[in-house]
This record gives sequence, C-alpha cells and structure tokens, in this order.
Amino acid sequence: MTPEEFRRAGYAMIDWIASYRESLRDLPVLAAARPGEIKAMLPASPPQESEPIEAILRDFDTIAKRGITHWQHPRFAAYFPGNSLLAGVVADLASTGLGVVGLTWAASPAVTELEEVMLDWMSQALGLPPTFSGVIQDTASTATLVALICARERTSKYALARGGLQGEGKRLTVYASAHAHSSVEKAALLADFGRDNVRAVPCDAGYAMRVDALTKMIADDIASGCVPCAVVATVGTTATTAIDPVDAIGELARKHDMWLHVDGAMAGSAMILPECRWMWAGIERADSTVINAHKWLGVPFDCSLYYVGDAEHLMRVMSTNPSYLQTDVDAEVKSLRDWGIPLGRRFRALKLWFVLREQGVGALQRRLRRDLANAKFLEEQVREAKGWHILAPVVLQTLCVRHEPPGLGGEALDRHTLGWVERANRSGEVYLTPAMLDGRWMARVSIGAPETEQEDVERLWRAMRKAAEGDV
Ligand SMILES: Cc1ncc(COP(=O)(O)O)c(C=O)c1O
Repeated sequence: MTPEEFRRAGYAMIDWIASYRESLRDLPVLAAARPGEIKAMLPASPPQESEPIEAILRDFDTIAKRGITHWQHPRFAAYFPGNSLLAGVVADLASTGLGVVGLTWAASPAVTELEEVMLDWMSQALGLPPTFSGVIQDTASTATLVALICARERTSKYALARGGLQGEGKRLTVYASAHAHSSVEKAALLADFGRDNVRAVPCDAGYAMRVDALTKMIADDIASGCVPCAVVATVGTTATTAIDPVDAIGELARKHDMWLHVDGAMAGSAMILPECRWMWAGIERADSTVINAHKWLGVPFDCSLYYVGDAEHLMRVMSTNPSYLQTDVDAEVKSLRDWGIPLGRRFRALKLWFVLREQGVGALQRRLRRDLANAKFLEEQVREAKGWHILAPVVLQTLCVRHEPPGLGGEALDRHTLGWVERANRSGEVYLTPAMLDGRWMARVSIGAPETEQEDVERLWRAMRKAAEGDV
C-alpha cells in the first residue's frame, strides 16, 4: 500500500468509524453471531495474491456487523465499561502510524518521556502521593503479576539472584479477599507462590475484605512457620464493586512487613473525583497500585497505570542490560523496559495524552458523575419495583440485581435469572452479564459507556422488566 492508497483507505476507515459511533444507539448491543459463524465467513487459507483494499474493507464491514458486540453502545451494561473515547482512537492510529518500538529511551525519546509526564499528570488527577511513580502496563493482570513478583523478591531478599523460591526454606503466603479478581490468584500462581499458600480472606456483608479475618489468617500462618509476603486489597471488586478497607489492611501490611498491592482496576478511575477518594483512603501505605484507564476513564484498551512507591526495587527486580540495548545516555534517562515484563513498548502514552487534552479532567469528571447519578437513578427504580432486589451496596456505577417472583427459589430462581438475562441480551436492547453472588445467580448492570444518558438507562430498565416479568 502506498502512502496515497493509505490516505484513501484511511479516510474510508475514519468515515466508517465515525458513522459507526453515530449509529450505535440503534444497533442491537450484542453480536448476532452464533459460535463458528464468523469462522465460516472466512477462507480457510491466506490469499496468495494481493487483494484490493476496497474488498478487505467490505469484508470488514460484513464481519463487524455480524460479529461485534458493541462495547461503546449506550446500553452496554456488561462486565465493566471498556470505554474508547475518539481522541484515543486518533492517538492509537498515530501510534501505529509512527510504528516505533520503545526498547530504550534512544529508540524514540518521546515514547519514554511522554509516558513519564502522562503518569505524572494522572497521578495528580487521581490524588496519588507525589512519592509514587508510574508506568503503563498492558493490563491489570500483568500489573498484579509484576507486583507479586516484586513482593516475593522483597520478602525473599532477592531469591531470584540465588536459587529462586525453590531455594528458600520458608513458605511465603499471599492474601486477597474472596471477591478479588481471578487475575490475583493467577498472578500469585504464576509468581510461584503455589496454591497452598494463597489465602482467600472472607468478606463482610458488603463483600469487602474482613480485616479481623485477615489478622487471624496472618497470625495462624506465622504460627505454622509461613512468612506472610503480600496482600492485595481491591477497590471496586468485579462482582459487586465492593471496597476493601485499604487503610486498615495497609496498617497490617506494614506491621508484618508485607507488600500491599491495591487493585484499583475498576474504581481507580473514580479517584479523579475528590468525593470518591475515601474509597482508597490509606493509599499512601500501598507499595503498588493499578488503575485501568482503559475501563471507565475512556482511554482505549490497553492502558493500565501501574504506580509504585519504590521504583528502585521494581527496576532491580525487572532490569536487563544486554550490550545491544546499552546507549551512552542510559545514566540520564529512564529505561521503561526495567519497569515491567516486556522489552518492547508501543507508544501507549499518546492515547492518554490525547484523551486528557481533548477532554480535560473536567469533562472526564462530569461523565463519571453522570454515570454515578444514573446508577443511583436505576437503583431507585429497582428498589421501588415489586419483586426486584438490590443485592449489594451501589457504591459506583454497577448494580447487582435479582428478580425474585413469589414462590421461586433455589435452582428454579437461578434458571429464571439466567433465562431473563439471556432474553434481555438477545432482544438487542441491552447487554448484561450474570454472575454468582452467595452461591446464586444474579444480574450485574454496569452503567457507563461514553454516551449512556438517563434515557438509555430507562430503556435498559424497561428491557430488563419485560424480559423478567414476561416470564412469570
Ligand atoms: C478488579 C479487577 N481487577 C483486575 C481485572 C483484570 O483486568 P485486565 O483485563 O486489565 O487484566 C479486572 C477486570 O475486569 C477487575 O475487575
């Protein structure tokens, strides 16, 4: 493709994206495709000869129409929002267009320095302690893995430079609430703690970690010869957006010289609102935290902001310095390859830069406040409706709801829940995800796509009622 052909194809794609975003409200939220349908639309083998870009764009359009679930749709209420603001889309295009790989500072100085400044801007916007410094990771899963590896190395006094955990006599233990995201357990396993040493701390009635239970678990582990190494506190758990008490957990962590990692993948975005910062009170006690700017905040995936209190330790654990990566300015600059697992890095800071400038923190705050108000509005509707229940405190923009017709319980109630959620989703009006809470299925309604207004929430609620109440 020549630059001139790119110009035409690029303009066509930009037009396609603009029209797509304009038409979202009228599209069914959930992809129509059934399993295998998209594969059946594709040739079994790659083309031997070049194809015209027009043909590729046509096929893209067909496949996108059939096989895309519309995450930016105003009535997308599944999982958590994965917002992709258009300024970030432009930045991603620029990043790929430049086609640089930030292996070292010299490999493209702007990649490193823009990332440093953006993480500093975000730190200010989030109200983080000025002593924290940050880097972009691809996902919260990776950030938590990095955190637990750093925890392991701090407690073991750099066992990786000796025989690794295999060479250590004592068992290192990790703690997270029973409602922590599955990525926490995965990170603990991949960091080689071993399942036997990963503790699920019981939660209180609001699904937040119980500090008394954590205290007892730590004491029991010490008594049986283990070394408590790390605790992960979640601010905004995945099922219910519960808020673990960071301050009290941090106090315990400090007492036992444990690493405190705060998983703010979801609620971290809300920290741009001063009125929400109580949710991570005590964050200054953390050794590390992760905030997914690619969730509610609106920076296109992938953009996890990973902050640490002790950057020297992170670099000591993660650094590599082969001769082919050394440059004469290494002593004066940051080498972001030493701040995480991958060597290469995309120019991801561009999308933060474009979004922060095009929106301003003010517009981001207004949108998040709109979503919080919409969640409260829906909460009131649900509480007033007969047979409907709110199952967990609504602290952010996610509601846990169940429709409980009289006389229905146990597995019959589960079938009803899964049935009406499926019907609501298939109606195209809304996309919700069911999840288990206290051993029973419920519906999670996670509000907050870029264009979600109150009328979308009203329409979503009508679709839920129709799907559930039509079944009794
Ligand atoms: C609380 C929490 N932590 C971690 C994750 C994992 O995020 P990622 O996809 O960035 O790894 C999620 C995903 O929804 C989450 O809700």
